[in-house]
Amino acid sequence: MGAPDHDRATEIIGLTPPEQPDPRWQVRVRGLTKSFGTNLVLDNLDLDIERGKVNVILGASGAGKSVLIKHFMCLLRPDKGHIWVDGTDVLSLGAQELAKFRRKFGLVFQFAALFDSLTVEENCAFPLKEHTKKSASEIRDIVGDRLGALGLQGTQKKYPGELSGGMRKRVGLARALVLEPEILMYDEPTTGLDPLATRNVDEMILDACARYKVTSVVISHDMASVFRIADRIAMLHNKRILAAGTAEVIAGSTDPFVYEFLRASGVSAVGKLAEGGA
Ligand SMILES: Nc1ncnc2c1ncn2[C@@H]1O[C@H](COP(=O)(O)OP(=O)(O)OP(=O)(O)O)[C@@H](O)[C@H]1O
Ligand SMILES: [Mg+2]
Repeated sequence: MGAPDHDRATEIIGLTPPEQPDPRWQVRVRGLTKSFGTNLVLDNLDLDIERGKVNVILGASGAGKSVLIKHFMCLLRPDKGHIWVDGTDVLSLGAQELAKFRRKFGLVFQFAALFDSLTVEENCAFPLKEHTKKSASEIRDIVGDRLGALGLQGTQKKYPGELSGGMRKRVGLARALVLEPEILMYDEPTTGLDPLATRNVDEMILDACARYKVTSVVISHDMASVFRIADRIAMLHNKRILAAGTAEVIAGSTDPFVYEFLRASGVSAVGKLAEGGA
């Protein structure tokens, strides 16, 4: 690791020692290196995720965004580097501790990943049945509450195949919320949705963040959506975080790659933000 990289990294991330719990930064990644065979995907990457905020990760297809967030909950282990969550070194956890630790996280995938043969209610009840000793009526109440909060009243007995894509994503979020995660990770939640459904998912992300005080990590390619929801943006490029900061800072970045990436994916959003608009 050369000195210039280190200097740049310290400008874009929190300055407290990463192994100390910090009220501002919930997930802290330092020196993360990951290869699959000869394919070096992440190289000495540093990143901080801000607590209670919407943190967006941007990057080209294949840049390593999904690989990166899988490390946060130790679904992948790095070749080198560290990940701290609330000051816990996640790589030091044993199997039992890890299973408990992973319950801090909720995951919402691109294709909702619901069980087609289970009803909406059964899908959402599944994590509670797996991980808690709650009674059937408690489970029904929790599931009803989350579905209601997401505007999905009355869908309990329907099957995923009977719902629209946007509704399925909301069921995916309801299911992720039943265990009251502290950190919600969305991997391309709006891919394949029309603009109206995308807006609904954006609102759902913001609402979940505000209502349940969760830390949100969102991978998205939809730039209009990104600038509607992001408190912070981290740009993954060349196996590292090239730039990170508030949406305004990133929109105004003079880094040639960041500038080109944003311009190629929607000049108007960038222009509006740069002028101080929404
Ligand atoms: N389990 C795995 N085994 C081997 N290679 C993998 C594995 N997971 C990811 N990769 C490789 O790591 C690289 C980064 O993949 P990743 O899925 O993180 O990209 P991404 O930024 O999420 O892309 P997209 O925007 O298309 O989802 C790719 O070259 C991919 O082939
Ligand atoms: Mg991906």
